[in-house]
Amino acid sequence: MKILGIETSCDETAAAVVDDGRTILSNVVASQIDIHREYGGVVPEVASRQHMLAIIPVMDRALSEAQVGWQDLAAVAVTKGPGLAGSLLVGVNAAKGIAFAQGLPLVGINHLEGHIYANWLLALGSAQPEPAFPLLCLIVSGGHSDLVLLTGHGRYRLLGRSIDDAAGEAFDKVARILGLGYPGGPAIQQAARGGRPNAYHLPRAWLRGSHDFSFSGIKTAVLHAATGDRGSERAREGRPAPDERARGMKLSEAGRVAREVPVADLAASFQEAMVEVLVEKTRAAAEQHGVAQVALAGGVAANSLLRQRMRERVPLPVLCPPPDLCTDNAAMVAAAGYYLYRAGRRDGWDMDAIPSLRLTSTE
Ligand code: KG4
Ligand code: ZN
Repeated sequence: MKILGIETSCDETAAAVVDDGRTILSNVVASQIDIHREYGGVVPEVASRQHMLAIIPVMDRALSEAQVGWQDLAAVAVTKGPGLAGSLLVGVNAAKGIAFAQGLPLVGINHLEGHIYANWLLALGSAQPEPAFPLLCLIVSGGHSDLVLLTGHGRYRLLGRSIDDAAGEAFDKVARILGLGYPGGPAIQQAARGGRPNAYHLPRAWLRGSHDFSFSGIKTAVLHAATGDRGSERAREGRPAPDERARGMKLSEAGRVAREVPVADLAASFQEAMVEVLVEKTRAAAEQHGVAQVALAGGVAANSLLRQRMRERVPLPVLCPPPDLCTDNAAMVAAAGYYLYRAGRRDGWDMDAIPSLRLTSTE
């Protein structure tokens, strides 16, 4: 059963054809990163205009690379939220138009469901069995840090979430403080290679007794360390204070001081603190809920230290999609579409984009 997936929730225009929820026949992603890099982040108005230009060619390419025609498809699955309103609307309307014209069923997908179902996709040449329930999924993206318990297809329970910044947001903001550019996650990972992970002891917010996360404290500690504010590790280590002008600087201005601080050490110490919290809290939730497996999802799951540590510290099978399936793509949307369509999910022609859509608890 072949499903066309469409994803336009943020800054990637993507379409893919997936067979039986697992085999990728095509996976086309038109990235807007180069356009938004100039502004240091995603500009919503620019993103939706780009989606409008790209959506039809991207869908055409997905079909031609998969060597299928409209008549070969069983359904169209599309991300309906959460995400940027103007961006989501482009995908939702394209999906509705195509599904209506071709007489195909329409399946609306929560973007986070999409990230979760990236774990069902088969890497090229792999014959990996399907993930097993109950499954604990750590979704870490630019907008979310969620611990979700899955007891079956489409059956979720949100165990914990970030009470402030999402994990990816923290990576992006810290990269900006360190003058490493956009997107921040891959830049931090790269910069951390030459740094000492224990050079700075940044605060870990454990929020004991809950599965929630908090990352704004780590981010602020990096800002203080980078700008030489009082109480920073930098000061404690007795290293010279940076330029006076850097003190009390706003986040947006902080990139300018990055040349004066040990960027590699700060990047490595930040990455270490983030990974330690993500891994330990996931391990504790997995133990408490007696799950069969743990899965990673979302852009931050592309982080190699996170993948490695999770596998070392969690005494259960740990699934990680290949890095290019962790970041936004439409194959994950088509995979979710297959399993949820089979479970009976359908949407009508009145389906709308829902920017603040949540993963609804079904238990
Ligand atoms: O899932 P995603 O592509 O888009 C959203 O749904 O938000 O996630 C994007 C986020 C960005 O914050 C980016 O910096 C982060 O994922 N990211 C990483 C890495 N690759 C992407 N964070 C840490 N390490 C990486 N290698
Ligand atoms: Zn995403």
